[in-house]
Parts: sequence; structure tokens; C-alpha cells
Amino acid sequence: MVDVHQPLRDNVRLLGDSLGKTIEDHLGTAILDTIETIRRLAKQGRAGDSESRARLEELLTTLSDEQILPVTRSFNQFLNLANIAEEVHRVRRRKHDSNQLMDDDTLPQQLVRLHNHGISKDDIVKQILALDIELVLTAHPTEAVRRTLIQKYDGIAECLRALDNVGDDTADGQRLVDRLKELISQAWHTNEIRTRRPTPVDEAKWGFAIIENSLWKAMPRFLRQLDESVEIATGHRLPLSAAPIRFASWMGGDRDGNPFVTSAVTREVLLLARWQAADLFSKDISDLRAELSMGDCNATLRQAVGDDEQEPYRAYLRQLSRRIEATQRWARDELAGRPADDSDILRHNEELLQPLLECDRSLRECGMDIIAEGMLRDIIHRAYVFGIHLLRLDIRQNSERHAQVFEELVAYYGWGNYAEWSEPQKQAFLLRELKDRRPLFPRDWVPSEEVQEVLATCRTVAQTPASALSAYVISMASVPSDVLAVILLLKEAGMSWNIPVAPLFETLDDLDNAQSCMQQLLDMPWYKAYTQGQQMVMIGYSDSAKDAGHLAATWGQFKAQEALTALCSERGVHLTLFHGRGGTVGRGGGPSHTAILSQPPRSVNGSIRVTEQGEMIRFKFGIPEIAVRNLELYTGAVLEATLTPAPAPKMEWRKLMDDMTAVSCREYRAMVRDNPQFVPYFRAATPEQELAKLPLGSRPAKRKVDGGVESLRAIPWIFAWTQMRLMLPTWLGSDQALARIEAQQRLDELRDMASEWRFFSAYLDMLEMVMAKTDTNTAAWYDQRLVGADLQPLGAELRTRLRDMIALYKRIRGRDELLVQNPVIKHSIGVRNPYIDPLHLLQAELMRRVRLYGEKGVPNQIDQALMVTMTGIAAGMRNTG
Ligand code: PGA
Repeated sequence: MVDVHQPLRDNVRLLGDSLGKTIEDHLGTAILDTIETIRRLAKQGRAGDSESRARLEELLTTLSDEQILPVTRSFNQFLNLANIAEEVHRVRRRKHDSNQLMDDDTLPQQLVRLHNHGISKDDIVKQILALDIELVLTAHPTEAVRRTLIQKYDGIAECLRALDNVGDDTADGQRLVDRLKELISQAWHTNEIRTRRPTPVDEAKWGFAIIENSLWKAMPRFLRQLDESVEIATGHRLPLSAAPIRFASWMGGDRDGNPFVTSAVTREVLLLARWQAADLFSKDISDLRAELSMGDCNATLRQAVGDDEQEPYRAYLRQLSRRIEATQRWARDELAGRPADDSDILRHNEELLQPLLECDRSLRECGMDIIAEGMLRDIIHRAYVFGIHLLRLDIRQNSERHAQVFEELVAYYGWGNYAEWSEPQKQAFLLRELKDRRPLFPRDWVPSEEVQEVLATCRTVAQTPASALSAYVISMASVPSDVLAVILLLKEAGMSWNIPVAPLFETLDDLDNAQSCMQQLLDMPWYKAYTQGQQMVMIGYSDSAKDAGHLAATWGQFKAQEALTALCSERGVHLTLFHGRGGTVGRGGGPSHTAILSQPPRSVNGSIRVTEQGEMIRFKFGIPEIAVRNLELYTGAVLEATLTPAPAPKMEWRKLMDDMTAVSCREYRAMVRDNPQFVPYFRAATPEQELAKLPLGSRPAKRKVDGGVESLRAIPWIFAWTQMRLMLPTWLGSDQALARIEAQQRLDELRDMASEWRFFSAYLDMLEMVMAKTDTNTAAWYDQRLVGADLQPLGAELRTRLRDMIALYKRIRGRDELLVQNPVIKHSIGVRNPYIDPLHLLQAELMRRVRLYGEKGVPNQIDQALMVTMTGIAAGMRNTG
């Protein structure tokens, strides 16, 4: 039998050997021998040989400060190389599967399934045209790999792919292997830790690079595939304007807890996007003009270029090229603060589209459809999807910051204390001012700097064209006045259109009250008119889980969406739910199509927004082939959830969920909030404090500088527990809730729920995936090295609870092992463990040394090595946090 994974193993060996050779060339044989010994001991230790494990522990705790950095780096780099090989293998397998027609989840098959379900072909097409999926790239600090390394890794992946075609025993193959070695050596000799934090503008550029390097190619390819699938399944073709998926961004717009995102930054990022779009289209149009040398054209083109013109398309597009270049010049001058000429720039997407569509028409009218279907079609798709703004920006700010504006204003006028006003009082005031034409802000008012910044941002928003913005998101929203406050601020700034203002409900209480909050708003005729029949609401996954535990948050999110869906449908308002999901399960992550299909019935009503963050952006959209697949998965899932919504959960399931979540939330909080030992344990056993040093993103790890765990953002919270493999936030509390059900002998009910209710089975699957990534031996090691004797019993208790939880889970599902249904992930975790183990041992050791050095100052190589373990473990777990 052919071993389908042999190419993966061959690649891993090739990469591993080259890395070894690089290290040997650089640092000599002795260090390579040490690394080899560690690798061997780790492997044997994993296989159950306790003596090897003991020797490994001994070896890694006695490495000198000098030795520790290269050892750490070698394991980190190896894991990154293994990821590349896996990624390449995934594409390879997909190609193989589609050649064999084994993949039953392709779009044509899905469309046929929908038709078999009784949906007419016309309805399928109509729904595809109405789809409005927006994937929102955020700058959330979870991408641990530097951009310069990502580029090298992309190069390595390209070599591996090319090697598949030529084989390494040919001259071309040898050249590829040499290039591969060179790239591995370059990576080794490059510092994997950023020396400074990226600025928000750097982050935005990183987002643009994903578009330039991958999505620019992937999007037209996806749209062609979609069109073909629709034609096969329904006999209809899609119009060129069909754009079911678009991208939006938070990079440079999200200022929640990030003081570095200022109004000036937002303005700069908007201009940079204009420049970038113009740059990409300028290349496209120049390539297109080179190709469109045809002489025949329709009357419109002929009239535009005159009778003497031999090459009408080239001539006709010359004007567009000029305007694109003018746009580029203008954006560049604006960015440089120079006088900028905007007389000839592209202001509306129509101005980009119209000449392209005219060429398309002319070519078709003259019998050159085949030419229209080529490069021109790709560019038209890009013009519809990306357009002159490249991607739309969201603004996000915390509700407290908006309230602060009114606190200062009301105090200035001597009207009292806004913070102490009741909610009805605030609403009445805000509504009155919204309806009033006279300006509210006095000219001589000098508010605090923080307030000035909020006002400046609102002015920037008001000056930006509507087509460049998507929404204004209010984090930590809870009451109607949070929403009215933003609309009033924007009005005062001179806003001329009704930007969607989306409250983000992100604590359990706020999710529970979301429906009531929106109901109050929609009951206000003024507000209802403002919405123009469209309401966006954002659901916060991570903070709710941090607040109430994973199970209770998951159910809270479900119920909130259900209630909001019912409310909006009753009020005749179209609801778009915006899911603030992170990459990891603890922050609402997981396969997107499963997530979409397990949403409450009718909540995915053709439109959806989802955040895409950090390393997940790279994993899902960094390579065109994989990006196309993910775009397809999103489209298929949203279509399916819209046209064949899941049945509503049974009453008894709801009751059971209510009971379980009450227990899990109580138990979770009893530990996290009420156990006085918990926070000291968290601080001692996990690298939470050390993480703040890792310059992953532009924003600080905490919302407030001096805050405790409550103000710690969800990302470092999850990140810290992931690093030491207890993964506590995902299961704590659920263990007690499920144990209670077992004690009541009601496990069969859970099993029914798991087999009949997608939402619940998705919850269990995610829980299982996370539990498979836990490792109590590793967690115990951190305790042993880092936790004081007084706190050790707490660690032991948590590990026992986790073990019990895993055993109980297996009983629920009637399985002997975790992940039997998912052999690919199981295999991947198994293969990685021996390489991650040394990093864990080293991390605990490094944390110990860092804490010992303390005030005396930590030697640079120790700090550096500690940061390398963090990124290495993140690479090994394929998730930062
Ligand atoms: P936030 O996001 O802290 O920006 O709300 C949390 C997350 O993505 O996990």
C-alpha cells in the first residue's frame, strides 16, 4: 500500500537535516551533538522511558546560560520547519484528493445537496447573489512569527512544492535543494524575535501584504470556481459583480485599549490602503494594456478613442492608467505631508469599474469572449471585491471612552455628573441632542487629551468616504446609551451618513442583556430610522469565556444570538451578526464552517462578519490555494446555514444547558475569582508576566496599566495557560457541570444532544481538541520548578480535575482515546510532542532563572531564549493563544 504521508516524512527529514548542517557549520559539532541527544531523549521519554525523561530533565536544567539559547532556537526552528512541511502536505493531499474525486465537500457537491434538499436552482442563485460575508482582519497580537521569517518560510514552501514536480535527483531539483538550504541558513542567522514592537501602521502593512501576496490571486480564482460550480449545479452563470465575500480590517482602526492607534494613524492607514490599491491596480492595468492589442471594438469604445486609433483598448485604458497614477501620487504626497493634487484621482469605485466593464462589453460584442474571460475578468473581480480602498476599515473603541467625553462635557456645562445619571436620563439627553440641529460642543472647551483623541477620531471618520469604512464597533457595550453616545459623537463631528454602529457584547451579563438593550434601541423611532433597516451586533467570544468559563459563555452567545435574531425579525430589521472569534478554542476559534453551521437557526441570514486574527490569517489565507479553499468553505457554510437552517434545539436540551451552565459558571468563578490562591498560582506557574515582554503586537497586554487579572486581555490569558499546557480556561467549570450530569445518570441525554444538535457536538469536538493538547506531566513540571510549596496542592488539584474531566469525556463519547475521529490532528500532535517537550522544560527553567535574576537584571541571552520558547511552543501548538 502507498504510504500517503511518506512525502511529508521525506520533507521533514530534508528540512531537519539542513537545519542540523546549518547549526553545525555555525556553532560546531558539540552543540549539534547536545541537540541530537536532547531530541533522542525526548523521543524516548515520550515513548514512556522514564530514565530518558529523567536524563532529559537533568540535562536541560543544567545547560549554561550560553548554551541555552542555541538549543532553544534549534527546537523552535525545527517546529516552524515541520509546520511548513505539513502545510505543503495539506495542499498536496488536497490536489491528490480532488484528482481522485474523493473530496465530497466541494462547492458543486454542496450546491447539489442543497438542490436535493428541495431548494430550487433559482433560489440558490438568488441567495448566492445576496450573500454578504465580510472577513475582518485584525491586528490581534497572536502572530508570533516575524514577517521577514514568514517570507523565508514561504520561500521554503515554494521550493518543496517545486521539488514535487522535478524530484531532487535532477539538476533543477538540486538547485531547489540548494536554495532550500540557503533559506534555512538565512532563517537560522536571523533573530526570530522582533527587536521592537510593530507599530499599528506596520500591522496594517502586514494586512495589505496578505492581500498583495495571496488574496489578490486567490479571490478571482475563487470567484471563477464559484461561477463554474453554480453553472454545473444550476445551469446559470453569475454576473461579474457577484462578490459574496469581502475583506475588512481592524488594523489601524481598532483603538480599544491601544493608545498607539490614534486618529493620525487611522488617517495614515486609510491613505496607505488607497496607495496600495492604486499600486496593485496600476500593475494590473499595465499588464492588461500590454495584452489588449486587438483592433475590433464596439461603437462606445470607438467613439471614445476616435476613428484613427489602431489599438482602441490600449488607448481607452490609457486614461484609467493616468488616473490610477494620479491617485498614487496624491496618496504619496498626502502621506508625506506635501501639497497633494487631487484633481484627477479616482474617488469612486465606479470610476475604476466602468472602463473595465466597457472593455468587457466591447470584447464580447466583437466575438472575443475568450479574451474577456482572461486577465480582464480577474481584474474586474478585484475591482468589485477590493476596489479603490483595498479593504474597508472598522473603527473600534471602548464604551468607557465615549462615556468619558460626556462626563467631561456635562461637567463643563455644570449639568451634573453624567456617570451618575440613570440610564433613562442618559438616553433622554443623548436622544434630545441627536435630534437637535445646534452644535453641542462649545468652541472654547478644552477637554482632557483622552477625550480629544476620541473627538479627533470621530472627525477622521466623518471625513472618510463611506465606501472606505464598514462599521464603528463599541467594545464592552452593555446599554443603549453606549450606542447613542457614539452616534451623537459622530454627528457632532460632521458625519454625513449613517455608519453602522455595532455594540460588542462581551461579558456574560451583557450577552444575556443584549436583546433587551437592542429592543430598547429599536423601540426608539429615531434610532430605528437611523438603522435604515440594518443592524449589526458583535458577539464577543473571548472575553465572555474569560468572564464565565467556556461552556457558560458558549451557551450565552448562542442564546443572545437567538434572541437578537427573533427581535430583529419581528422588527423588520436585517441583523448581521459579527463574530469576534479568536484563533484558539478558548477564544471561540475552531473550523469556521463548523462554527457557522452550529449557529442558532436563522441567525446566519445571508450575511455574517467574522474576525480573522494573527497566525490564523496566515494559515487560512497566506497561500492562494489554501485561501481559495477557505473562501469556498465560508461560502458553502453560510449558504447552507441560510438556506437549510438547523432545527431549533429541543426544550429539554435547553433546560439541560441552562442547568449545566449555571454549575459551570459558578464553579469557574469560584476558582478564578474567589479562590485567594488562584491568582498567585496563575502568576507563578504560567509565563503570564514574562509574556508581556514578547513584542508580538502594537497593543499592551492589559487594558489598564496597573490592573490585575480582570484587566488582562483574553489573549495573554489563554496564551499563558497554553504555554504550560493546562489549557484551564477551556475546561474549568465544565468538568463539574458534566460530572453532575453523570451523577444524575443523565449521560444518555448528553449523547442524544451530541448526535442530534450540531451546536452541542461542535462544543464537544472543540473541547476534545483542546484536551488533546493538554499535558498534565508538562504542567506538573512547571509547578515543580516554579510554584511555591503552599500553592502546589492547588496545581495538583487542577491537574486531577483535568484528568477526571478527560476520563469523563471519554465515557460520554464511549471512546478509549481522544481524537480517534480526527487521526490527522492526533498524528500531528503526536509527532510534535517530542520537539515541544524540550521547549517546555527549557521554558520552565528559563522562567526560574529570570525570576532568580530579578532585580539584578536578566542577561540578554536568557530573556531572548525565554521568548524563543514562547514562540516555539506557539508554533508547536499551531496556536499562539
Ligand atoms: P479583544 O479580543 O481583547 O481585542 O477584545 C480578544 C480576543 O481576540 O481574544
